[in-house]
Amino acid sequence: MSNEVNCKLKINGFLYDLTIPDDRPLIFVLRNDLNLKGTKLGCGLEQCGSCTVLIDGKKALSCNQTAVSFQGKDITTIEGIKVNSKYSVIQEAFIEFNSAQCGYCSSGIIMSLTSLFNKTALPKKDEVIKCLDNNLCRCGSHYSVLKAVEKIIANIDHKKVDN
Ligand code: FES
Ligand code: FES
Repeated sequence: MSNEVNCKLKINGFLYDLTIPDDRPLIFVLRNDLNLKGTKLGCGLEQCGSCTVLIDGKKALSCNQTAVSFQGKDITTIEGIKVNSKYSVIQEAFIEFNSAQCGYCSSGIIMSLTSLFNKTALPKKDEVIKCLDNNLCRCGSHYSVLKAVEKIIANIDHKKVDN
């Protein structure tokens, strides 16, 4: 049996003061309580990656862990990755390369890639593939996703990264 508890969550830079069941997974708080619908519920079993968000800049799944367990952390959803109100370079590359078909997996894939680029300025192809290992896509968009990532890497100022 769940209990209603007070829960303070920092999401996309905003602090939310909520009263929610202590066993409610983060994704239901995002989608149902806060209307942040960009994060998608797929398997609900931590198997498909569609619910990926960032916790303190690193990718994490939101479908199983309770929202209350993320208090004190910095939560970022797909709605929070724009830079100066513009799409991030990853989002722009996805648009350019049509890297989504139905788009259901895209938010999770973009968040995984955002986590990778947060950690590694110039990731290698095998690091990109490994990063996306747990992001399933039933439409087969991975090829165009890799094309988008190749373009991002090609546009990075390699000299700056090396220095
Ligand atoms: S919905 Fe979370 S991993 Fe599938
Ligand atoms: S684009 Fe449809 S599931 Fe990936």
